[in-house]
This record gives sequence, structure tokens and C-alpha cells, in this order.
Amino acid sequence: MSKSMRLMITLLVTLALVASATLAMARPIVIKFSHVVAENTPKGQMANKFKELVDERLAGKVEVEVFPNSQLFGDNKVLEAMLLGDVQLAAPSLSKFNKYTKSLQIFDLPFLFKDMAAVEKFQQGEVGQKMLMSMKKKGLIGLGYLHNGMKQLSASSALRIPADAKHKKFRIMSSDVLAAQFEAIDAMPLKKPFSEVFTLLQTKAIDGQENTWSNIYSKKFYEVQPYITESNHGVLDYLVITSAEFWMDLPEDIKVEVKKALDEAITFGNSVSAQKAINDRQKIIDSKRSKIVELTDAERQQWVEAMKPVWKQFEGEIGKEYIDAAIQSN
Ligand code: LMR
Repeated sequence: MSKSMRLMITLLVTLALVASATLAMARPIVIKFSHVVAENTPKGQMANKFKELVDERLAGKVEVEVFPNSQLFGDNKVLEAMLLGDVQLAAPSLSKFNKYTKSLQIFDLPFLFKDMAAVEKFQQGEVGQKMLMSMKKKGLIGLGYLHNGMKQLSASSALRIPADAKHKKFRIMSSDVLAAQFEAIDAMPLKKPFSEVFTLLQTKAIDGQENTWSNIYSKKFYEVQPYITESNHGVLDYLVITSAEFWMDLPEDIKVEVKKALDEAITFGNSVSAQKAINDRQKIIDSKRSKIVELTDAERQQWVEAMKPVWKQFEGEIGKEYIDAAIQSN
């Protein structure tokens, strides 16, 4: 090969390398945000707000793609997918981290938190903040909590006292505490993905389920569940989560901006959750498809007494000092 030919090849190879490096630099970082609920929910709205803020502030540098309604991954797969780098952001319910940490089980203890203000106080306090990092060794980082709200019990018959739920089948999220909660009232819990709940109810494969007003409304559970007991027996909140590897690799300036957008989107999502707890409840009443069962104090007390032994059952795994801190937040 002649000298000029060699020079030519070297030049071409260098040019190709420079071009591909420039292209790589120019390509935006993609954040896939996968979730299971409808867009008109606190989480759906939060995800869309996050995308909007990032589009506005980090155009060309970061691109957010939101996948609602279990389109990309259901909650049973999303964390594995995150560890493989197939998705960068998700916000599963706090009840869906059983495989990765035991401490978050605290949020499933029935009748632990009096209301959402108590939940907020606990999450923002020392213990709640420590829990964000409880899965770091497993490769997952919690970036913040997002509210949905208090759970209600829907069913094919009216549930006034725990005995009404006896031998009935309830769909639950993948949480051992929630399983124990239904076993405590002699009911049968079934762990099933959110995407299957409507069909299970419609075909009467199960008798009931527990969820927030916004999930019951947006997924039309109220159309196939003639009774909803206003029990407020537990909380359904989320952990906004990312992979430690993805997060550590983000350039510092981008990370700061992404986190800021996320915090603002969470604040927005929380305000949506507070409104929806009232408005979606009202829309269900107005639909006349489902009757709301309001409990007397004495009736509610029966549920408390039947379910509260679950606390002791999980005290060892969760930690008594954590449960005490939660009680303090009430
Ligand atoms: C459920 O599975 O019932 C909820 O976790 C769905 C959700 O993300 O709100």
C-alpha cells in the first residue's frame, strides 16, 4: 500500500471516529418511565408533568418516555427490567418491594397511619428518608415518595364487619403483610398484577379488592363491584425508583436538573392525589353503580381489632423502632 493511501485510510478512520463520538455526545439520555395506572391518576399525572418539565428544561439533553397502563412492564417485572437497564424510572406501590427490602412493609400495616398527613410526616422524617436507600445494595435507589391515598375495600356484597369478608377472595398486591391482613379476617388473599384486577372482578373469579378512590374510579372497578366499604384501613403510596447504576452515571449537572424536575412533579402529583381522593369518590357515588358503605365507629373498631395483630407478626422483619416512629407521626 502506498504512503498516500495509508494516510488516506488513517484520515478516514479518524473522521469516522470523530463523527460517531459527536453523534454519541449529541444523542439525548433517554429516561423510560414505566407505570401501571391510567393517565388520569396521581401517578399518571405526575409522570406526565415530569416529562413536560424535562422537555422544557433539558431539551436535546434528556428525553423522557412515559409508558402508562402496564404497556411496557407490569409491576411484577419492572424492577428486574430496571436492573437490566431496560427502564430507568418507575413508581411502584410501596407494597411491591417485598423481594428487595422488608422495611417498606411498614406502609402495609393496617390502621397504622391515621391519615395522609401522618403518612407524609413519617415519609419526610428520619426513618422515611433512611428507607429511600434501603435497596441501594440491591442496585435500586428511591428518589422520593409519591402519594395516592388511603385504601378502601370493594366487594360483590356489603362488608360492614370483618365476618362479612369471611371465606371471600380478595386480590392483593404482592405483599406478605397484605396477605396476613386478609388471613386475619379469615378471607382468602390472592396476589395478582394490577392489570388483571378488572377482569378478575368482572368474571367473579374473585369477590373483592382493596384500592384507592382514584384507582377504583380510573380502572372502572366500581362498575363491577356493587359495594365499596369506606374503611381507610391502609395507605397506597409509591416509591419513585431508579437504578443505582443509571443514577450514578448521570452527569452531575443533568442529575441536579432531573431531580429538581422530579421533586416538582411529585409535589404536583401529591396535590392531584388529594383532589382525586375527594372527586373520584364523588364520581363513583354519582354513577350509582356502586354503593358506599360508611362504617359506624363500633363497626370500624371491629376491623381494627381483627387486623391489628398483623403488626406483631411483622414487627421482627420491619423493626419495632420503625413502627413506633410511624405511630408518633399520627
Ligand atoms: C395496585 O396494584 O393495586 C396498585 O399498586 C396500582 C398502582 O400503581 O396504583
